[in-house]
Amino acid sequence: MAKSVSLTVGDNSYDFPVLGGSTGPDVVDIRKFYAETGMFTYDPGFTSTGSCESAITYIDGDKGMLLHRGYPIDDLAKNCNFEEVAYLLLNGELPNKEDKETFEHDITYHTMLHEQIHNFYSGFRRDAHPMAIMCGVVGAFSAFYHDSLDITNPDHRRISSYRLIAKMPTIAAWAYKYSLGQPFIYPRNDLGYAENFLYMMYATPCEDYEVNPTLARAMDRILILHADHEQNASTSTVRLAGSSGANPFACIAAGIASLWGPAHGGANEAVLNMLKEIGDVSRIDEYVKKAKDKNDPFRLMGFGHRVYKNYDPRATILSETCKEVLDELGVKDNPLLDIAVALEKLALEDEYFIEKKLYPNVDFYSGIIFQAMGIPVTMFTALFALARTTGWIAQWNEMIEDPQQKIGRPRQLFTGQTERPYLPLGKR
Ligand code: SDX
Repeated sequence: MAKSVSLTVGDNSYDFPVLGGSTGPDVVDIRKFYAETGMFTYDPGFTSTGSCESAITYIDGDKGMLLHRGYPIDDLAKNCNFEEVAYLLLNGELPNKEDKETFEHDITYHTMLHEQIHNFYSGFRRDAHPMAIMCGVVGAFSAFYHDSLDITNPDHRRISSYRLIAKMPTIAAWAYKYSLGQPFIYPRNDLGYAENFLYMMYATPCEDYEVNPTLARAMDRILILHADHEQNASTSTVRLAGSSGANPFACIAAGIASLWGPAHGGANEAVLNMLKEIGDVSRIDEYVKKAKDKNDPFRLMGFGHRVYKNYDPRATILSETCKEVLDELGVKDNPLLDIAVALEKLALEDEYFIEKKLYPNVDFYSGIIFQAMGIPVTMFTALFALARTTGWIAQWNEMIEDPQQKIGRPRQLFTGQTERPYLPLGKR
């Protein structure tokens, strides 16, 4: 028998169907709520709202579980490369050997940027934030690819998806090179996705450059951990922008803008800045006290999560990767890591964090790894955007192909002035 919930308002009673998925919480279908009750539901921040049906990523915040198309993130991070996970997110299954080789070839052969794009970089100041450059360059793509903007055409959706996934590492690496005043390094077709990115970041035309395989593997794993994460703020931004029929390049540019915020993807940069501000293990108590003070806007960056009320599984893998990278680089003592480890220990024993279920999230350790790899702090969120582009475009494709999808158009609780007569200038 179909499940439903009843709502009684005064003398009226309304029934709304309850829908169940393959796992996770059921949902109350309130699509007819306004038509039947004359009222809106109210959920700023969408703390209790399911915005769509999706089969891509499942998170159990209480268990600290993250599945991509049913596969645990730990298994994917340990056994796959980023291209395999990108294929999985886009197509729903892990690729066989032939499909993997074809997909890797197709992505590789779209990593170059149109030569005109060089001019976009020269329009920015050398100290422009890489996220500003990525917003601008990705948004401009729709001016270059008129051959693939028909979102109702599956072939156009696929080529646009491949172009976005393939070109993000080039765009990000060139933003770094531009900040240094160094020449852009073109991608190489004999390198894998993560290796090619590090090559474009650190090679110069003056000598051969070989990417450290341990660092390439670490970067590959970091990209996997950042690839997709259900209906987070930036993914929801991409979906909402796409719901109007906007082209995929404009939608991904909107996602980049949303990710930039310090409460979201910008947190990895904010964590490093916070650790530098704390400066010494002896000052941790002072900052934990600030984080607990309701009157102090300071929050422990890299801590807390809307969904995870347990350890973010990505943070666990990243803390292991952090130690691997520091060992590989022969970094014996890293003061920022010492502060992070001590901060994590203290917070996890503190009643405030225990009661509010605040644990380290994906952004807590990633910045320390990036810094150890020589990546500047301003590039941290650009790397997050590079990886999340695959998740965004997989979710965008799913939305376009969803027969239930409509243009997103929320309503409001209006608390402003009700109708009043016009006030002439002389009477104001
Ligand atoms: C990402 O959504 C995703 O999936 C995002 C992401 C992804 O992969 O896409 O996982 C990536 O964005 C990770 C989160 C990165 N952000 C940060 O690390 C910034 C610091 N964290 C907080 O700003 C906060 O925890 C959020 C934004 C992450 C979550 O905020 P919520 O869900 O809106 O929770 P909240 O702000 O209502 O906090 C609940 C309580 C509050 O106290 P009370 O008002 O109940 O008394 O916990 C407190 C908050 O003050 N709190 C913190 C805290 N985070 C929450 N207190 C101190 N330090 C913190 N970090």
